[in-house]
Amino acid sequence: MKTEEVDFLIIGSGVAGLRAAIELAPYGDVLVVTKDKPSESSTEYAQGGIAAVISDEDTVGIHLEDTLKAGDGLCNEEAVRTLVEEGTDRIMELISWGAEFDKEGLKLSLTLEAAHSRRRILHAKGDSTGKELERVLLNKTRSLASVRKYPFAITMDLIVHGNECHGAYVLKDAEVIALRAKATILTTGGAGQLFSRTTNPLVATGDGMAIAFRAGALLEDMEFVQFHPTSLYSPTAPQFLLSESMRGEGAVLLNICQERFMAAYHPMAELAPRDVVSRAIISEMVKTNSNHVYLDLRHMDKNFVKTRFPGIYGTCLHYDVDITEDLIPVSPAAHYIMGGVKTDLEGRTNLTGLYAAGEVACTGVHGANRLASNSLLEGLVYGARAGTAARHTAVLSRQSPEFTFSPSSIDGSEEIRRTLRKIMWEKTGIIRCGCSLEEARTSLAPYDHIIGKDYLLRHELELKNMLTVARIIIEAASRRKGSVGAHYRSDFKERGENWREHTLLDNGSFRFEGV
Ligand code: SIN
Repeated sequence: MKTEEVDFLIIGSGVAGLRAAIELAPYGDVLVVTKDKPSESSTEYAQGGIAAVISDEDTVGIHLEDTLKAGDGLCNEEAVRTLVEEGTDRIMELISWGAEFDKEGLKLSLTLEAAHSRRRILHAKGDSTGKELERVLLNKTRSLASVRKYPFAITMDLIVHGNECHGAYVLKDAEVIALRAKATILTTGGAGQLFSRTTNPLVATGDGMAIAFRAGALLEDMEFVQFHPTSLYSPTAPQFLLSESMRGEGAVLLNICQERFMAAYHPMAELAPRDVVSRAIISEMVKTNSNHVYLDLRHMDKNFVKTRFPGIYGTCLHYDVDITEDLIPVSPAAHYIMGGVKTDLEGRTNLTGLYAAGEVACTGVHGANRLASNSLLEGLVYGARAGTAARHTAVLSRQSPEFTFSPSSIDGSEEIRRTLRKIMWEKTGIIRCGCSLEEARTSLAPYDHIIGKDYLLRHELELKNMLTVARIIIEAASRRKGSVGAHYRSDFKERGENWREHTLLDNGSFRFEGV
């Protein structure tokens, strides 16, 4: 097998991975491996913005308080404090690297999203904030000679000896390559593709969580999946995020009888926490026997809407919805997973030499429900911190990697992927219960054999990872017999005891039958 040695291996090229690469660049050679082209990540598609304490009316304490409140009592307060304290410097640094955030006159323009008590969300080109971050970070990494990219290479597994991670096996052009590294940082993003309705790009298949789990890493808070209330609902258009900042700027929700309903569910109405808005929408859909509600911007100034949301305006128009004149059909969709590979505040996992940052990781910064627009900030702050910590690691093994590998193939993988996504959406979605979770488990059990095999095709490796993460989410959601934040169980509506230690999973405490 071909083997390559690098100082630092980063798996994933979104905001957290690129920020970690920049931090590590002065200390050795850095290889950023990504299964698609480098810009293809959830970062690229982020619309709303990036939250930070910028305004004179805001303070670190208020941002901290809002984040803790959204997290519904389950945030790690230290992790949140670090995020909000270091966030402003990370943004200023980004501006010094060329990031162009929207301005009003000479001042940065700040918008509002759900559960924020101050206007603190920076945005770029209206609704293309993620694209701007990705542009700036990719440019910056291009200027650093020690950072190399390795696109279209999917990670199969980590190289592990005992409790140490020594890099990863990746598949590139049908060849397996052992990439040995002193430190490995997982920044692979989320797992929205596990659900048939999602705002996430096709690459979000939970790969990092699955490979970390197989290597013996601990996963935490996997039951907490955030559903975004407003994704475009149209049989002829792709699922497309309609940023919460539209509601922040005054858009309202109507049921199909064209009645506003949010005030009946929460005093913050359209700007209530996302889990509340998503459940309210489901409830209205049931009441009115419909599969969508409407987002309404018709009362807003047309020119303002077009210039503030140019990307959304253009995309919707392409599918015959003029957001300045038409009601926009919307329904919730899986958006973000609060759980992930358990790390400390430096991105360290329980495996020496393995770090994680961004959506794949769980520092506890989001608790049971992420405050809107905190995730790009998390990628910047914790990507940089993981980079700083990783440069002090030196676990390059003298042992040459062994990889016993007998490739299989999966019959009907497209059909299995569709079935999995449908089951996850219907049985483990916005409202779950013991019965639906049991049905999900039973329906997926026939595919357990896929989890234990090796594959040489990207879509088969993704399916194996999706099935792995789906089973972990189902298990964590079954073990948490209570409702908190984004995890809502119709059979246990109270929050109940703190189930966190029961829902902490690794491949020792939770095994797939038949694997
Ligand atoms: C949005 O623009 O609504 C998404 C922002 C986020 O999820 O943080």
